[in-house]
Amino acid sequence: MIKRLDVKFVLTLVITSVVPILASLYLVTEAVQTSLGVGLNRDIANSLSQSVKIYKDYIEEIKSGHDRFMSALEDSARLQYACQAQDERQIKQVLRTFIRATQIKEISVTLSTGPLLVQYPMDDSRYRSVTRSIPLTHPFCRHIEVVFGVNREITANFKQAAHSTETYDALYRAPRDYLTQRVIMIYAIFLGLIVIISVWQGVFWTRRLTRRLHTLNLATKDVTHGNLDVRVDPGGQDEVAELINSFNTMVDEIESTRARIQYLQKISTWQEIARRLAHEIKNPLTPIQLAAQQLKNKYDANDPRFGRLLDQSVDIIEEEVHTLKRLVTDFSSFAKLPQISPIPMDVGEFLRDCESTLEIVAEKQDLTLLFEFPEPGLIVSLDSMMMKRVVDNLIRNAAEAMAGADVSHPSVVVRVEELAQTDEVAIRFEDNGPGVLPEHHPSLFEPYFTTKEEGTGLGLAISKKIVLEHNGVIWIDDRQTDGACFVVQLPLVKDKKKLK
Ligand SMILES: Nc1ncnc2c1ncn2[C@@H]1O[C@H](COP(=O)(O)OP(=O)(O)OP(=O)(O)O)[C@@H](O)[C@H]1O
Ligand SMILES: [Mg+2]
Repeated sequence: MIKRLDVKFVLTLVITSVVPILASLYLVTEAVQTSLGVGLNRDIANSLSQSVKIYKDYIEEIKSGHDRFMSALEDSARLQYACQAQDERQIKQVLRTFIRATQIKEISVTLSTGPLLVQYPMDDSRYRSVTRSIPLTHPFCRHIEVVFGVNREITANFKQAAHSTETYDALYRAPRDYLTQRVIMIYAIFLGLIVIISVWQGVFWTRRLTRRLHTLNLATKDVTHGNLDVRVDPGGQDEVAELINSFNTMVDEIESTRARIQYLQKISTWQEIARRLAHEIKNPLTPIQLAAQQLKNKYDANDPRFGRLLDQSVDIIEEEVHTLKRLVTDFSSFAKLPQISPIPMDVGEFLRDCESTLEIVAEKQDLTLLFEFPEPGLIVSLDSMMMKRVVDNLIRNAAEAMAGADVSHPSVVVRVEELAQTDEVAIRFEDNGPGVLPEHHPSLFEPYFTTKEEGTGLGLAISKKIVLEHNGVIWIDDRQTDGACFVVQLPLVKDKKKLK
């Protein structure tokens, strides 16, 4: 599916690559035409063939020089005389006079007694050898062979000039349009390939980019419609990936803020219900209790069976009224939870404070309470009174769970972890009790969820409300296999002054 942004990108790419290429094609055509006009003309062709001719003549001249030398040698009266005399020394002398005459490497005469050689040292790398020989009719001197030295440079230059002339002639004879067409065609194929590769590359990267932007766009629409489960794969490490990561973080934050607000709203509804319930139950309780007491006091002790029944009924009424009164107290304290007023405080100091208060509770329950205090300097914004209620609730819950399960050495360890990545501190409460059943995890923080006969199920709900009001989170660590582990996570205060 091609999208609007894709089309724009591709069009821009095609235009930006094709326009300069067409312009350069035009310029190249012009340049080729002009240079062919300048380079391929009759004058140059003539001068080139002239120079080849000069070289040819020169080489011919060298050859005829060799011929002349050979006949001079053949006709030499001195040589004939020396041969006649069969005097090798004289022959050699004659040859030496000849060897100095022109560029000769060596002259050898085959005598009836064997070969006779005269040499003249010559640099082989500069001079090529050309051998000429003639037979002699003399019985003593039978054959002469001469090795001439011909300058290599001359023959090489001649070959080069001949080759250049040939190429130039071919170019000159070829029709100019044909040449232009060939150059332009090669150039056009080359440019066409560049256009195809660059457009293909451009489309590839553009599609990749727009696809991710399109996904991000759809995700943004989803979030606008209230779907906060949506997250987008960044698909790389570029600026778009950064944008997508920021989007994901933003949705995370919206989600947690929404959850926090929803929870606090739910708790405030339950607080209102608790307030009304407490009010409605509280009022009739005292008259019920008084009426039961009165009945007991006014009883005339004539009928012992009725007396016993009356005593039992009054005890039941009083016990139930007592339970109801405790419920009313719990409900009203839940309903009247005060607003928190936090101040910056050291986590270690706060926990030391909690330790001294909770020592008595621990002693009473025969519980080992172990605090692992962190290094000083971890500052959080705390309402210490309210946060102590959270710590108290968590430790009480652990103590109650362990007492209910008859754990032999009940203990709670409170340890602190700094979460540097999120600038938070985690306070962990780990016990060695029976733990929480996985199916109870989702309901733990719901108001009135309890597994205890005498519980109201408000402890964790109140704790969560307090922690959320501190901009923190409370959760049960389900990785803990041995006992239960509740974690309170609070944001660290980096700049103390800001919060004061
Ligand atoms: N440390 C723990 N170990 C095992 N179960 C726990 C622990 N803490 C809480 N629970 C479970 O969570 C439930 C809810 O706890 P919560 O403190 O909200 O209420 P409660 O303790 O039952 O009643 P209340 O605190 O109002 O007296 C408990 O009934 C218990 O089942
Ligand atoms: Mg509790």
